[in-house]
Amino acid sequence: MKVNEAELLISAVRQDQYPKNGLPEIALAGRSNVGKSSFINTLVTRKNLARTSGKPGKTQTLNFYDIEGRLMFVDVPGYGYAKVSKSEREAWGRMMETYFSSREKLRGVAMIVDSRHSPSALDVQMYQYLKQFELPVLVIATKADKVTKNKRPKHVKNIRETLELEKADNILLFSAETGQGKEDAWKAIQAMIG
Ligand code: GTP
Ligand code: MG
Repeated sequence: MKVNEAELLISAVRQDQYPKNGLPEIALAGRSNVGKSSFINTLVTRKNLARTSGKPGKTQTLNFYDIEGRLMFVDVPGYGYAKVSKSEREAWGRMMETYFSSREKLRGVAMIVDSRHSPSALDVQMYQYLKQFELPVLVIATKADKVTKNKRPKHVKNIRETLELEKADNILLFSAETGQGKEDAWKAIQAMIG
């Protein structure tokens, strides 16, 4: 999909701040600093629509992006950043629970993992958590530019097995650096929004 118009509608914390435009929605998920915001920027071909950072914990709110008036991407704060207090972690958990349990137009989740590494215990937990809500999950193995080409299939297989991906859930290699996987990601997202 070629995107001409993409805009941040709101950075929300509370449920009453979520947009009410009724567009189908795709949320991001993944550990802090893995590349969730960069994924959005690559898909919409904008360098800095979603703010990114070399430091973890950049995204702190639920950021709703209207894409061409056709769908919304919801960028979320990542998990697993060590320098987060217990109360902050609990607030994050409540924000996620409210969002995932209440959002009727949520059609699926793009879960971003690092293609270089085996998914962490938190990644496995996140996948299971999303499946509790019976959400379709598209796994994006990002930073593929950092893995030598001949090792990529092995890494994908390992991620699929470690997460115990359901048959219906796809996994794609991706790179925000080279644009690898962008077209396939759009295809998968369009299939999810129907
Ligand atoms: P939080 O908002 O903190 O949860 O992070 P995030 O998951 O949104 O990550 P973000 O998109 O801000 O990217 C984190 C860092 O990884 C930045 O320095 C990006 O430039 C880098 N990065 C993201 N995607 C890629 C990629 O595909 N390849 C490479 N080489 N670097 C990437
Ligand atoms: Mg971010």
